[in-house]
Amino acid sequence: MEWWRTAVFYEIYVRSFGDANGDGIGDLAGLIAHLDYLNDGTPRSLGVDALWLTPINPSPMFDFGYDVSDYRAVDPLFGQLADLDRLIAEAHRRRMRVILDLVPNHTSHRHAWFEASRRARTDPHRDWYVWRDPAPDGGPPNNWVSVFGGPAWTLDPTTGQYYLHSFLAEQPDLNYRNPAVVQAMEDVIRFWLDRGVDGFRVDVVHKMIKDAALRDNPRPPAGTEHPIRDYGGFQHRHDEDQPEVHDILRSWRRILDAYGERTMVGEVYLFDPHRMAAYYGNGHDELPLSFNFSFMWSPWGAQAFREHVAQSETLLPSAAQPVYVLSSHDAPRHRTRFDDAQWGEARARLAAMMLLTLRGTPFLYYGEEIGMRDGVIPPDRVCDPVGKRFPSVGRDPERTPMHWNAEPGAGFTSAAEPWLPIGPDVEHVNVAAQTNDPRSLLSFYRRMIWYRKGSAPLTRGAYRALDGPADVWVFRRESPGERLLVALNFGETPRALPIDGAARLELSTDPARAAGALTTRTLALGPVEGAIMAIE
Ligand code: GLC
Ligand code: CA
Repeated sequence: MEWWRTAVFYEIYVRSFGDANGDGIGDLAGLIAHLDYLNDGTPRSLGVDALWLTPINPSPMFDFGYDVSDYRAVDPLFGQLADLDRLIAEAHRRRMRVILDLVPNHTSHRHAWFEASRRARTDPHRDWYVWRDPAPDGGPPNNWVSVFGGPAWTLDPTTGQYYLHSFLAEQPDLNYRNPAVVQAMEDVIRFWLDRGVDGFRVDVVHKMIKDAALRDNPRPPAGTEHPIRDYGGFQHRHDEDQPEVHDILRSWRRILDAYGERTMVGEVYLFDPHRMAAYYGNGHDELPLSFNFSFMWSPWGAQAFREHVAQSETLLPSAAQPVYVLSSHDAPRHRTRFDDAQWGEARARLAAMMLLTLRGTPFLYYGEEIGMRDGVIPPDRVCDPVGKRFPSVGRDPERTPMHWNAEPGAGFTSAAEPWLPIGPDVEHVNVAAQTNDPRSLLSFYRRMIWYRKGSAPLTRGAYRALDGPADVWVFRRESPGERLLVALNFGETPRALPIDGAARLELSTDPARAAGALTTRTLALGPVEGAIMAIE
């Protein structure tokens, strides 16, 4: 079975994981220093199998690396190519794979391709981007808006035309209707695969190619909204999810398959599960993995999560591998979203058990294993361009430095001021405080991940939802000769569950509860408790 079907991935926001040179910003050397924490081959470490690094390419950082000015190098802020080679080697030595963030939809406006493209209408790189004449009134060529607010077009005075940017004006969109662009990005992919990376997380896959005629988007049906203004005012019929994107993905999959053992996980930010499922192709010929964002944004509750999983089980091609995730660098941390004065910590444990027992590839976000919450960012420390335009949906809070210990700088940096302030509750929410405490959240994540690693039903078994009391999500994971029952009580009242057959409690989210055979044919679940049972 392909490694990426059984792996637990861990997203590292490189700027915030480890700062080796004391400038307040995370770097590759700082990351390498923490590899043993992630996996040293023993259950004393977290035990993750693969790392996703947010962009490390040279960038003027208007969107913190998601504006690439050179696809084949490492930004000096993070180190050099040699540091990346060392990181890959050191990770591989610990049996961890490394995937990089590939940002194909747009470049930085400082990329040499765009600098050439904007120079003259006749420049050979002109058609590498999307240029159009102004509308008759001098305004933008159509009504498209940027995901980050405002028009998706900026007028460039040098040549008197507008260029398209789905995000910031500093992030011009490439033109994938030009075969030279398709070729150039495939060369970038090969460049990194030749260097030994195990694959890519692919940024905004669904936007890579737009309507050939650049038609106006229709207004949406009433009641459908997006947290970011402007963008939610339209149906995105023509500026994303075009049929031709699948040709690009099929070609990329052929490249991956030719190298072997490589993967891609797509950021397909579409909430219509049918449209999202299409990016897997037939299950073998497009994206090997693609995030389920409906699941990520689900409200707390057994019913809600169960329905997203049911949908994914029904709609994905049978060979496709679902990808579940609860937190990322683009969304408030789930420890914060699901917080509760009384049940916050129990919910974090239950969420972890859910994520790590479903049929699919789980992605963790750095710091969730110690229960990191969103940081509080004073207005004068806001960095994220989205946060500057729309403070309520800024993404700095989920990007604050990793808490290694409770010292100033949280063990992340020796600088007086890290690039973003240290998050809340660092006295308890840190690795040093939790590492030797068997009841800590970190210890629970480790136990859960190592248990999963050794479990055939969890890593490769089928999933079947069973009936259960309201608030309790009960499902079975089954592989030949082995059966597990997972029961997740999202509610705050105890529940009793009948078990048909002899059962052994393998793992509970309750740190006080020991594993062992059940003496009655009933499983008593405490409030907000999850349990894994082996059934004979
Ligand atoms: C993706 C990234 C996000 C970035 C955007 C533009 O959504 O995850 O962080 O701002 O693309 O590249
Ligand atoms: Ca640094």
